[in-house]
Amino acid sequence: MIDPEAARSRVLVIEDSKADQSVYRRTLHEFDLVFADSGEKGLQQLTAEPFDLVVLDYHLPLMDGDEVLARIRLAIAPELPVVIVTGGGSENVAVDLLKQGASDYLTKDELHTPRVAAAVRGALERHRLDQARQKAEDELRRQKDELQTTLRQLQEAQAHLVQSEKMASLGQLVAGVAHEINNPLSYVTNNLAVLDRDVRQIAELMTIYRTHFGASVPDSIQEFEDRIDLNYTLANLDRLLQSTRTGLQRVGEIVAGLRDFSRLDEATSKRVDPNEAVRATIEMVRFQIRQKGIDLIVDTEPAPMIDCNPGQINQVLLNLLMNAIQAVDPGARITVRTRWLESSRQVRYEVSDNGPGIPESIRGKIFDPFFTTKPLGVGTGLGLWISYNIVEQHGGTIKFDSEPGRGTRFVVTLPVDPPEARSTSPGPP
Ligand SMILES: Nc1ncnc2c1ncn2[C@@H]1O[C@H](COP(=O)(O)OP(=O)(O)OP(=O)(O)O)[C@@H](O)[C@H]1O
Ligand SMILES: [Mg+2]
Repeated sequence: MIDPEAARSRVLVIEDSKADQSVYRRTLHEFDLVFADSGEKGLQQLTAEPFDLVVLDYHLPLMDGDEVLARIRLAIAPELPVVIVTGGGSENVAVDLLKQGASDYLTKDELHTPRVAAAVRGALERHRLDQARQKAEDELRRQKDELQTTLRQLQEAQAHLVQSEKMASLGQLVAGVAHEINNPLSYVTNNLAVLDRDVRQIAELMTIYRTHFGASVPDSIQEFEDRIDLNYTLANLDRLLQSTRTGLQRVGEIVAGLRDFSRLDEATSKRVDPNEAVRATIEMVRFQIRQKGIDLIVDTEPAPMIDCNPGQINQVLLNLLMNAIQAVDPGARITVRTRWLESSRQVRYEVSDNGPGIPESIRGKIFDPFFTTKPLGVGTGLGLWISYNIVEQHGGTIKFDSEPGRGTRFVVTLPVDPPEARSTSPGPP
């Protein structure tokens, strides 16, 4: 059966013998034939117009078949089907030519037989199938890439949702707790002031009584004084009141720290003292620091106000500090440092620990969403990813260096002045 596609195929026959050319005219009448009587002319034809296949005589004057084949493959059409025609008894040459990319071969003895048309048809069909397979493979690869991109986008969107949900509810919780503590705190503080005044007055009264009545007080009163160790109690009143005041002041600071940290009221950019973020964040982790007996070194230096979303910067520092706390053994050392880089007008935050370090094998993944080495329930693997996004939105950088067994240092730099076109979007969709 004659394939109607093949019937229209354009075939270039490179053949110097006129007699053989007329044989081809007969045996390959179903194709559109163009003849070239030397390798050089054949190559010129191929560059000048498109062909579907080449029939190439191996024995040509000046340039023989394998050179023509090599030049077709190299410079003109790497995939164009080429059927080689060799002299009889040169099977070895034919095998070599197949290795060099010929599609099929014929011998001169077969020129008069239907095998010529069959070889051309076969080579055209194989080429067509190859191209279809290539196209299908490309399409498959494209679809796979598309799926992978969609999957990554979905993961990032999910990570964002989880994280913003987590931070929003954490912020609300913290603000709520701070508010609840603030009420009793204010009346306890007021009462303490009144109590301070009253107790001092009563103590003064006691002193007056004692001066007036001296040793003449009844035994029962003297006994009671001894029992409650009145002298000691009076002498200690000042210290007791002083330490109570200090304690309440501390509670006040913690509450202020919690409120500062959540900063729910400040969703947008504002100018803040960069060291304020350090103070508020440390307040949040003081318990974990104490519980693990960590030696916390805070080394800040004055810096100009920076333009930022303060709640978000707190979030970055909290993530870095929590990672350091979780990484180290009890009794380890964590250092939080701020530096003002005047020449580049940047503020640099550093959080370093002398923990186990980050193994080489995972360094490329720690900023990926959901990458965690912590057990289920301890880490979600979002801390660094969200920190990276926040820092990037602020036009800054976040980097780390780590030495296994020696520790890890994260460095965040933020520009003091806002970048002109800072994105206010919450990250990837
Ligand atoms: N200071 C550090 N020392 C050693 N490893 C660290 C340190 N900081 C981060 N890592 C590694 O990077 C991983 C990813 O950190 P990331 O903060 O993104 O997630 P996580 O802490 O595991 O979970 P999440 O922060 O969501 O609670 C951690 O699981 C840990 O393996
Ligand atoms: Mg973390």
